[in-house]
Amino acid sequence: MVKMISIHSSRGGTGKSLISSNISAILASKGRNVALLDFDFRAPSLLTIFQSRNSVRRWVNDYLDGKAKIGDIMVDMTNKYKTKGRFLVGFANVEMDAMREIARKDRKWQMKALKRIMAMKEELAEQFGIEIVIIDTSPGVQYSSVNAVVSSDVCVIVSSMDLLDLEGAQRMVKDLYEPFEKRAYVLVNKATPHMFVKDDSQSSLVESIKGRFTQPLIAIIPCYCDLLLAQRVSLFALDKPEHPFSWALSEVAKRLEDS
Ligand SMILES: Nc1ncnc2c1ncn2[C@@H]1O[C@H](COP(=O)(O)OP(=O)(O)O)[C@@H](O)[C@H]1O
Ligand SMILES: [Mg+2]
Repeated sequence: MVKMISIHSSRGGTGKSLISSNISAILASKGRNVALLDFDFRAPSLLTIFQSRNSVRRWVNDYLDGKAKIGDIMVDMTNKYKTKGRFLVGFANVEMDAMREIARKDRKWQMKALKRIMAMKEELAEQFGIEIVIIDTSPGVQYSSVNAVVSSDVCVIVSSMDLLDLEGAQRMVKDLYEPFEKRAYVLVNKATPHMFVKDDSQSSLVESIKGRFTQPLIAIIPCYCDLLLAQRVSLFALDKPEHPFSWALSEVAKRLEDS
């Protein structure tokens, strides 16, 4: 059975792309066959992270539009990252016109796209032996992210400690996750390091998150300046597996794999 996991948040900049690309790479290194898809059609990031413009023939946009087959959009990263399992990535079109076009799609098109996402999951399993599909979503409750969340078996809601992110995530839970009875975890990212210095400040942080969400808290990851210094062109968790950020994501990956 193939499992689909969406990495979602209420606002941009919480770390969805960094987290989804690294978790995918971690799972593929462990031997799982993984497909990662860029569904952030307004602000695509994976092409920059994977630096693979020359390998991309067609975009995820084209597949959702019924104009490309699954084999045309997936790029094989297995050799590049020397992963034990298969590691495929599907990219969102970075051209300005493509971003505008998808933003204009109506409800009818989006309903068709939802069916195509379900078909995509099956095709990835049948044609490539994919076991886990990870979606890097766009923030908020626009159609593309709603479609991704609705099609997923489990979701991760990423939030910083910023009240705007936290309250936005709570609204998303109420308006989207609860009506669709979606299983989700909360991941707090970019927590300020001073919260980890003393045990009591850490436990009050955990309590304050638990007070806001009924979904289980999967991790609290601090803000690490070395992540900002690291160039985007590498996958941090593969380059620096001993870094606490990489450990934290390995634990998250394991829980998602087992869930
Ligand atoms: N724990 C963290 N510590 C430091 N920087 C982080 C952390 N998580 C994410 N970032 C940085 O925050 C920025 C936004 O992350 P990104 O993954 O692009 O967010 P999103 O996809 O949600 O918009 C990037 O520069 C990323 O490297
Ligand atoms: Mg992103």
